[in-house]
Amino acid sequence: MFHTFISLTFSLYLLLSLLPTTTTTTTTLPSIGVTYSTSRQTSPSPPPPSQPPPSPSSPDRITTAMENLKLTTLRLEEPDPSIIRSLLYTNISIFLTIPNYMVTPIANNRSIARAWIYTHVLPFYPRAKITTISVGNAFLDVYPESINNLLPAISNVHVSLRDLGIRKISVSTSFSFVTAISSPFPPSSAQFQEPPGVNLMGPLLQFLTDTNSSFLINLYPYNLYRLRPEIPLGIALFQEHPFNFRDDFTTGVRYRNLFDIMVDAVVSAMALAGYETIPVVVTETGWPSSGNELDANSGYAEIYLRGLVKHLMSGAGTPLLKDGVRGVYLYELFDKEGNGRNWGVLYPNGSAKYRIDFSGESRSCVMNWINVGFLILLVVKVCCMVY
Ligand SMILES: *[C@@H]1O[C@H](CO)[C@@H](O)[C@H](O)[C@H]1NC(C)=O
Ligand SMILES: *[C@@H]1O[C@H](CO)[C@@H](O)[C@H](O)[C@H]1NC(C)=O
Ligand SMILES: *[C@@H]1O[C@H](CO)[C@@H](O)[C@H](O)[C@H]1NC(C)=O
Ligand SMILES: *[C@@H]1O[C@H](CO)[C@@H](O)[C@H](O)[C@H]1NC(C)=O
Repeated sequence: MFHTFISLTFSLYLLLSLLPTTTTTTTTLPSIGVTYSTSRQTSPSPPPPSQPPPSPSSPDRITTAMENLKLTTLRLEEPDPSIIRSLLYTNISIFLTIPNYMVTPIANNRSIARAWIYTHVLPFYPRAKITTISVGNAFLDVYPESINNLLPAISNVHVSLRDLGIRKISVSTSFSFVTAISSPFPPSSAQFQEPPGVNLMGPLLQFLTDTNSSFLINLYPYNLYRLRPEIPLGIALFQEHPFNFRDDFTTGVRYRNLFDIMVDAVVSAMALAGYETIPVVVTETGWPSSGNELDANSGYAEIYLRGLVKHLMSGAGTPLLKDGVRGVYLYELFDKEGNGRNWGVLYPNGSAKYRIDFSGESRSCVMNWINVGFLILLVVKVCCMVY
């Protein structure tokens, strides 16, 4: 009898411990989207401003690919109006990027901001679900000398939208992690790095707070892993292994993947600047499936992407950010034609490169069936014991 009681208690305990896995899906998970770009050929560093973007491929290709991947969030790097038009009446949320070469003109003349909105937003909004405009992408990597133009440009875009009565599109700008953050190890020691005499981050974070906008960061564990030989590959690739961890002795937190280390470095840098509640959106992340480097191969790329999706869909957040990042955009939708590093989740012809469920849907479905299976087993077991 005592034995039965123990088993029963144990079974109930198991039962209860299984239940939360089904309820965690009710918390808000990060959105997973993907970037579509046309001009970059080999690496995620922005194109020279003089280079005109090649003519975009058939816009239908994008909507078809998004449907096949079951993704509903799209980041456009060089927003061509014909692509935005093709997304009318779809349920795809759209993130627009203003090219870097336009940032300084927009900072100097609000009419240019207004003209850009007249061409890229007004004809389509709100039938096209435009949610965010990034003023430049990793602007400081290309035009570090124009750093003082960034905030005036953001402000001119924001004011132009408000003047036109558009209040629901948020305005921000994206940074590359390596440029924006100094000393990411341990994450709690991270700070924003700014040239002497420049004061961008404080006013920018205040603007994001005032306008309920997100901090945007291009975050590649691949790049940091390559810069830092002491980082084990397994941590960069979400591999669970007893020895795959890094401790932050200041916070007492143990990190098991480089993505969380980098996100928490951003969170720490914002907290140090006095802003703790600004949502973080990862505007680019990925792993190259080919290229000259040893670790650029499709095996690692698939492991990284699968580990990332699984981690985001677990709802675990990061140690310093319990709700996790608000969204992540994979870099990128299609491989580029030609040689060099390939970052696409699809081949140029649109067929799948990886067997990954980017929507995370079937995974949670499988989990639920596993749970149901366990429950049936337990019920049968408990009944057998009682009678
Ligand atoms: C968009 O989403 C709504 C609500 O989820 C749904 O009713 C509608 O059919 C969807 N439209 C398209 C084009 O997928
Ligand atoms: C601002 O841009 C508009 C449109 O391009 C132009 O007509 C105007 O002269 C510019 N203003 C200044 C002060 O440069
Ligand atoms: C802030 O933005 C989020 C997501 O974009 C939205 O859900 C929320 O309602 C906004 N809050 C305010 C006060 O506008
Ligand atoms: C698409 O391209 C990939 C890689 O080049 C190739 O393996 C695949 O067979 C192609 N699919 C179609 C339908 O052409």
